[in-house]
Amino acid sequence: MINLESLYSANARNMKKSVIRELLKLIQQPEIISFAGGLPAPDTFPVEDLRKAADVVFTKHATKALQYGTTEGDDDLKAELIKFEERQGLKLGKDNVLITSASQQALDMIPKIFLDPGDYVIAGRPTYVGAIQAIQSYQGRMLGIPFSPENDGFDMVELEKRHERAVRDGKRMKYIYVIPDFQNPSGICWSVEKRQALLRFAYRHDYIIVEDSPYREIRFIGENVPSIYQLDQQGENRGIVINLKTFSKILAPGVRIGWIIASPVLIGKLVTAKQAMDLCTNVFAQKWLAEYLKTGKIYELIGKTCDLYRSKRNHMVEMLEKYLPKRWDLTWTKPEGGLFLWIALPHYIDTDQMIHKAIARNVAYVVGSAFYFDEPEKNAMRINFSFASVEQIEEGVKRLAAVIVKEIELHESGPRGQTSPEGL
Ligand SMILES: Cc1ncc(COP(=O)(O)O)c(C=O)c1O
Repeated sequence: MINLESLYSANARNMKKSVIRELLKLIQQPEIISFAGGLPAPDTFPVEDLRKAADVVFTKHATKALQYGTTEGDDDLKAELIKFEERQGLKLGKDNVLITSASQQALDMIPKIFLDPGDYVIAGRPTYVGAIQAIQSYQGRMLGIPFSPENDGFDMVELEKRHERAVRDGKRMKYIYVIPDFQNPSGICWSVEKRQALLRFAYRHDYIIVEDSPYREIRFIGENVPSIYQLDQQGENRGIVINLKTFSKILAPGVRIGWIIASPVLIGKLVTAKQAMDLCTNVFAQKWLAEYLKTGKIYELIGKTCDLYRSKRNHMVEMLEKYLPKRWDLTWTKPEGGLFLWIALPHYIDTDQMIHKAIARNVAYVVGSAFYFDEPEKNAMRINFSFASVEQIEEGVKRLAAVIVKEIELHESGPRGQTSPEGL
């Protein structure tokens, strides 16, 4: 029998399966109400409009759509994306944009061009599991920065402290990875002050900022905050920000198309990295989305999606308030956009263990520990509000609350101090 382990590269040995993808396989049964996935609501998918756009491609440019394309991406789609970004205040040229097979590909390309084994990426604690997976697969390490108690971005004092210590210890940091708009998993949105402070920090230390923005347009409460890319562009314009965008949450994830916005020099390097990955992004899909964007219907679609998610988020928050006990050590974020909220539970609850009890009660969440690359915090969970129906949200929260209440009771009726640290 061949010993594959001895053949795998060090990179492959570093690859870790996504806890979320594994969990999603477990919870396919229809009786389970799942708050675990990150799926958009399928009723937002504009099926008929997309069918019409596909018809246009077949009628007008079938042979081009079925041919190889350039690695940089289809010019028609780029032109549409430049208009799309212009509406948000960004001025871009063709050479600022690279079309990708959605953002996950970009998250794999970036460590590929920046990281040597052992190099560090500065990132939030918690952060998106797909980014952790990609960084680890290139033997990258991560320097974790906690968020501020105000939930408005990094704790900047901790950033300075941890960074200084890391530099002193000889760690080599290359880039900062952040999701400033309605972060996955926490739902946190960074204030403009924190975005500016991070930009100044990156300027000072010559780091790249990777700004991952799949949820940017899904703001359903409050005012837009400029992206870090925009702040750089409007300020010193040093071209150190790589902004990742995708159609996954504003249109449909199955189209698997995203775009990177960056300086032409960085785009050039990323293009080289992409050539070896897939030569070019699915050409048909690019032409198809270009046709769809030309109709201008995406703006109305995003508006409707935001309306739907606002009502689901409000309902979820209302149900959490209704069914969960009111305690100082049981809190949840109240996001102004995106798809998720984050629940922090009493310190003695281990959500990795509790997930089995939740599944037994036919409700699922994602364990908080999945979003940490080291020293995971075990007493948290991510829950999604975009996919479940309004009825399922109430029933699911009711089931989840019953599991949590049972855990609290179990702890409180047990021998005092058995699992809790002193003074708590
Ligand atoms: C923060 C973040 N980045 C990137 C992705 C990947 O998205 P895509 O479907 O564009 O690959 C996701 C998906 O959920 C995400 O939450």
